[in-house]
Parts: sequence; structure tokens; C-alpha cells
Amino acid sequence: MRIGLLTGGGDCAGLNAAIRAAVRAGSSYGDEFLGFHHGWRGVVENEFSPLTPYETKGILQSGGTILRSAGFHPQEHDGGVAAVMSSVERNRLDALIVIGGDGTLGSAHHLAQLGLPIVGIAKTIDNDVPGTNHCIGFDTAVATAVEAIDRLQTTGESHDRLMVVEVMGRTVGWLAVCSGIAGGADAFCLPEVPTDFEQLAKAVRRRHDAGSTSSIVVVAEGALGGAFLGSPDGSAGSMVSKELTRRTGYETRLTVLGHVQRGGPPSASDRLLATRCGVSAVEAVHDHHFATLVSICDDSANLVPLKVVADGARPVPEPLLRVARTMSAW
Ligand code: F6P
Repeated sequence: MRIGLLTGGGDCAGLNAAIRAAVRAGSSYGDEFLGFHHGWRGVVENEFSPLTPYETKGILQSGGTILRSAGFHPQEHDGGVAAVMSSVERNRLDALIVIGGDGTLGSAHHLAQLGLPIVGIAKTIDNDVPGTNHCIGFDTAVATAVEAIDRLQTTGESHDRLMVVEVMGRTVGWLAVCSGIAGGADAFCLPEVPTDFEQLAKAVRRRHDAGSTSSIVVVAEGALGGAFLGSPDGSAGSMVSKELTRRTGYETRLTVLGHVQRGGPPSASDRLLATRCGVSAVEAVHDHHFATLVSICDDSANLVPLKVVADGARPVPEPLLRVARTMSAW
């Protein structure tokens, strides 16, 4: 079979592992792969390179994506969908494997409805794609954020400071909750839960009254109703930082982790997840199970209808929020 492969949206660790796995799995069937550059834009502009096991050798450990990435949606551009159709036809593709987050997979769903044979793989450090419990890149991002929190903890303690850490997560707080729990954070500000500054300040003051001299507050960038996303007036983290300083009087420092969370080599778990997803996607193509998303839940890799991506971001479930609450002053 001739299979097109693309990575779209924000990059993350593990994309190359997924590309490598798909190409290797396909080569055992005698498949040929075309790797489109910069996500859907490469399909529209017919920009690609052939992918063989040779080209994908040695990329298991590397961050980013050898195919490059972009947040491009064909249906939002004049003639974009027609260009995708003609690229698929011209290159005699039997299938497309699309590795992306909600945006890229949303476009995949749109195109699958028009008849394109597509299998999707979920990646994003936000871990919010519905239909699967695990998105490629999340585990590595959590480990990066936890390492940062560990480091902030020791410097915060040395100076009796309140340390506010802003992590990514525009609409959901998976990264904030998981890194905060694993890093021993003392309070959280999440998109899922409205932030009450007075309550937050009270919780921090209570800790300090009980003898703590330093606290860690983890803030998802989309907290505070998403009001500070892309705002020139500062971020959610800076707002939390200012409010806590004003309300507690404690010396406060803000660290915005930003894109460092997306870069670097994938964790062992992400390599494994990405490899399972790549192999499963190729199997789905050979079984003609199109308009599907590879879904990893526990030990099994299943396929779910790609239309699940239209359900919107998968929020952090209440039991996990409860753990965050129980383990912090929040
Ligand atoms: O990939 C998702 C994400 O990491 C969000 O958490 C973040 O807000 C966004 O990407 C940033 O993307 P960029 O700066 O690349 O546009």
C-alpha cells in the first residue's frame, strides 16, 4: 500500500518514535510511505519526502518531528480540501496516517467524512484528545514539569518564597494536575475549576501559619477562564503571582515553563506509546478500518471512531482532581 504520514499542530516528544514505528511496521507488508511536511499544509502543497526504514533510523530517541509541523487546516483555506483530494489522488495514496491533537485530528475527521481513508494517532502534551487515555508527548512533558517543580521547591525553600509555576494547558489541566501531584505542589489553578483568589491566599497562609515557609502553586496557562491566553497583559501565572503577593504579602516568584515542556527526547513511556500507536495505525490501514483513532486504554490498543474528536477537549476527571485536592492545601 502507499501511505501518507503527517504530524500537525504543536510538536511534542515521541512524534519521531511514532513515525519510525509506522514505517517499520509498514515495511514488513511492503508498504511505501510519503512523509508530508508541516502537517496538512504539506498535503495541500504536495510537499513530501519518501520515508523508508533508512530515513527513520536513529530517530526513536529524538524530540520534535522530522516531518516538521504546523497548525494548518485545509477546510479553512480556499481550495484547501480540493488540494488535499488531488494530492492523495496524484500520489496514489491508499491511506493517510495523521498524527495530531484536536485541531489536526479535527481536520482529519472533516476529510474522513468526505471519504478520505484516514487513521488518526493522538499526540499532545495537553493529553486532552477524547477517545484515548494517553496522548503521545504527555508523559515527557509531565516529567519535565516535575523536574522543574523539584528545582523550584529547593530554591523556594532556601528563600522562604512562594513559587508560582505556569505550565501549558489551554483548556484542560492534565499537565498541571499530574505534574503538580508528582511534584508535591501545594495549590493548583486549573481551567476546570474557577479560581477563588481569596480561598487560594487563605490556603497558602494556612500552610505558612502551620510552619511552612515556602509553597508551590501550579497554574495551567488556561486557568482563570482562559482570560490571559495570548494576552499582552501577562499570563494566568503572572496574575496568580500578583494576586497572591497582594493578598498574602509573601515574596513570590513566577516561572513560566513554556515550550521547554514540548522539547527534548521522549520518555521511555512515550517511546513505547508512540511505537504502539504507529504499529496499530498501520494494522488499521491494512484492515481497512478507516475514519478511526488509535485508542490506548490500559493494555490494549483499540480503534475508536475518529468522530470522537468532535466531542471537545477531555477534561481531568473528578477522581484525579480529588487526589490533587487531598494532597495539597487547595
Ligand atoms: O500543543 C498544545 C500546546 O502545547 C498548548 O498547551 C499551548 O498553549 C500551545 O500548544 C502553544 O502552541 P504554540 O506556541 O506552538 O502556538
